[in-house]
Amino acid sequence: MNILIVGSGMYVTGRNGTGTGTILSALAQFSKTNTITEVVVVSKSLESENEVSQATIRINKLLKTNLKVSFHALGDSSQQIISTLNNTKIFDSCIISVPDHLHFMYGKICLDLAIPTLMVKPLTPTLAEAKELIKIADKNKTFACVEFHKRYDETNLWIKKAIHENKVGKLNYFVVNYSQRIDIPLKTFKGWSSQTNIFQYLGVHYVDLIYFLTRYIPIRIAAYGTDGVLKQQGIDTYDSVHAMIEWVNPNDATNKFVSNFNTNWIDPNCSSALSDQKYNVIGTLGRIECDQKNRGVELVTEKTGIQQINPYFSDYLPDENGELRFGGYGYTSMQVFLKDVMDLKSGNKSLENLNIHRPSFRESLVSVAVIEAANQSLKNNNEWIDINL
Ligand SMILES: NC(=O)c1ccc[n+]([C@@H]2O[C@H](COP(=O)([O-])OP(=O)(O)OC[C@H]3O[C@@H](n4cnc5c(N)ncnc54)[C@H](O)[C@@H]3O)[C@@H](O)[C@H]2O)c1
Repeated sequence: MNILIVGSGMYVTGRNGTGTGTILSALAQFSKTNTITEVVVVSKSLESENEVSQATIRINKLLKTNLKVSFHALGDSSQQIISTLNNTKIFDSCIISVPDHLHFMYGKICLDLAIPTLMVKPLTPTLAEAKELIKIADKNKTFACVEFHKRYDETNLWIKKAIHENKVGKLNYFVVNYSQRIDIPLKTFKGWSSQTNIFQYLGVHYVDLIYFLTRYIPIRIAAYGTDGVLKQQGIDTYDSVHAMIEWVNPNDATNKFVSNFNTNWIDPNCSSALSDQKYNVIGTLGRIECDQKNRGVELVTEKTGIQQINPYFSDYLPDENGELRFGGYGYTSMQVFLKDVMDLKSGNKSLENLNIHRPSFRESLVSVAVIEAANQSLKNNNEWIDINL
């Protein structure tokens, strides 16, 4: 298969020792058991070419693979270049990993060409954009999915089962605490952090997760932001965003719960992990406490300070023969997408089935509706905003 990647940032290539380059590593690992003829990376400017080539060499060496990756700069003619490339390569799928505000533009280009698409979260910042993309995907009978990897984390799958086995009784509330180090908006995503906020960029993961765990529907939201620290340093976004969301059981309008989100983008850089994430599920019969940062492995050195390690997301670990294998729920998420694309082609799976059972664009309307309403509440004096799906 030929695969197109749009974007060449941290999630694709890894950068300065932060991140493995989940997307290229996943494709290299996948190529060990499936044929990938070529990967074409397109990104804004030629400056990224070296980064992509260095990452490919590093990953191929680590995994003993031979992934063939080429690079094209898009400049101002994205649509024309992607369309021309697709005429010769015929892309079997594409993975879009660009800043949030560009998701719609690239999603539209790829779906207009009927290329099965995996989009990094959030699908789009607005419902109108998300609905437009779904319309194109439906018209072209093209699979379109969001890379919500938390749906593949075993911890979350255990919690999903526990909720459905009624272990904690009727759901009363969720609490989500999710923070990232200040260097992420200040340095890593400096070019675009002002165009998003921490709830839209990170909180969306847990909005989708709560929907995935419970299947309840969000009906209204009120959001509150604090600011000052990032603004003083030239980044026009909130330091933290707090949101209360009311959810209803679609089969029983009297059965509701609330979720409280605290999302923060100014954690100290000496925090023991890039992301600090915890959530609780509280019901009438009990509670579930889930620490998604402290997974039980701690590294302490003079150079790094105290670090909590998550070996379950996206890492190279030795296999049974002592060779490095790329794995984790970040890999599972991409592997499932690529297998789905192959199964659709061979007729082993139907698009209708995948649209229901995967974090498809249609499934992701819920999280888009919540972030859009959160942004409206932030603009409108923290008013409650109804969510109409
Ligand atoms: N870093 C992660 O671990 C991670 C995980 C999941 C999802 N994501 C999502 O992936 C997306 C990108 O994140 P990242 O970490 O790679 O960011 P990044 O800032 O490192 O990279 C952004 C990439 O987009 C490219 N780009 C910018 N403007 C462009 C344009 N107009 N046309 C084409 N390309 C353009 C840049 O050249 C760069 O390659 C975000 O939506 C983020 O939410 C990131």
